[in-house]
Amino acid sequence: KIHPVILCGGSGTRLWPLSRKSYPKQFTEILGEDSLFQASSRRLSGTGFAAPAIVTGSDFRFLVIEQLATLEIAPSQVLIEPFARNTAAAVCAAALAIDAKDKGGLVLVAPADHVIPDHEKFRSTVHAAVDTALSGQLVTFGIMPDRPETGYGWLELTERPDSSFSPTPQALKGFVEKPDQIKAKNLYEGKKHLWNAGIFLFSTTTILDAFAAHAPDTLKAVQDALEKAEYDLAFTRLDSESWERCDDISIDYAVMERADNLSVVPYAGKWSDLGDWHAVWRESEKDASGTALNGPATSINCSNTLLHATSASQEIIGIGLDDIVAVAMPDAVLIANKDNAQEVKLAVEQLKTKG
Ligand code: GDD
Ligand code: MG
Repeated sequence: KIHPVILCGGSGTRLWPLSRKSYPKQFTEILGEDSLFQASSRRLSGTGFAAPAIVTGSDFRFLVIEQLATLEIAPSQVLIEPFARNTAAAVCAAALAIDAKDKGGLVLVAPADHVIPDHEKFRSTVHAAVDTALSGQLVTFGIMPDRPETGYGWLELTERPDSSFSPTPQALKGFVEKPDQIKAKNLYEGKKHLWNAGIFLFSTTTILDAFAAHAPDTLKAVQDALEKAEYDLAFTRLDSESWERCDDISIDYAVMERADNLSVVPYAGKWSDLGDWHAVWRESEKDASGTALNGPATSINCSNTLLHATSASQEIIGIGLDDIVAVAMPDAVLIANKDNAQEVKLAVEQLKTKG
């Protein structure tokens, strides 16, 4: 069986004000009835999958248990990070914890903030990657790019698959995490790259060997954090002094960009990372002018705009707006140019320093 690992410790600041430090986006309903975390958990349950392991921060531990309970899913373990140290340490901790129970077992690492509506297709694509993962490859999942996105990782192929995009594994030539604009444009136009879906399949042996080779200090620190962990109800609290020694780096930079045993399986279904408000606009239903109205919202002569209200008692009205995202919450309002949606992160940092 494949052990799903769901990463849900990010703070999702680019979706402020909906996403807050105490209640990040993966636990809120954005589009649909399930939270993104619940949808991810549901997607990775069923035939061929073991109970999921969750890696998250202390503040979210009860939220995780509650949201899984409504789906009648009991996690195999919940690893609690003393503080966020990015995804390399989180993945390493999960791999070690799973390896202790199922030596060399297969792990599927998935973020909690993706929209992948076709659960069946996704699961069959994962199963198509099993043999490659068992042969010692770090398997990524590739998405056909439709723009020069700088917020994603890009997977270099010998040749981009044709339009049939069947889930046939192939070896990767390289991995480029978050290129700048010029580079992204080149990668997009070169037609030899796919987007990295941010989902990985590998055996615990393969990923732990990769950590030993490319991030040995983090591996050692995470081993210590687990050795000195405290067990509290269903939770494994990682030791904070050891955790502090982990590099604050993502798995993409720490391992994927450096490894040479990478493969990809193309995923043809709909996939989206709800990373910022531009992405929410992209994923929302829109009228003929490209305007999306979420919640009690009214548009008069707006185009390519998102009007997003989160409270039934608070109406949002846009007049003559073009290319704008406007988000209203009872205690905060965001109005931004759609193309500057990434910069919401900076606004949140400024708010923090203001206290
Ligand atoms: N437990 C834990 N701890 N989870 C974390 C932490 C952490 O410190 N930091 C981030 N996460 C979780 C987030 O909640 C999210 O679910 C997932 O890890 C990925 O983090 P993001 O911060 O959303 O990464 P990204 O979107 O910028 O980039 C990654 O995903 C892209 C596709 O969505 C990379 O893998 C890219 O290469 C990829 O294209
Ligand atoms: Mg993301």
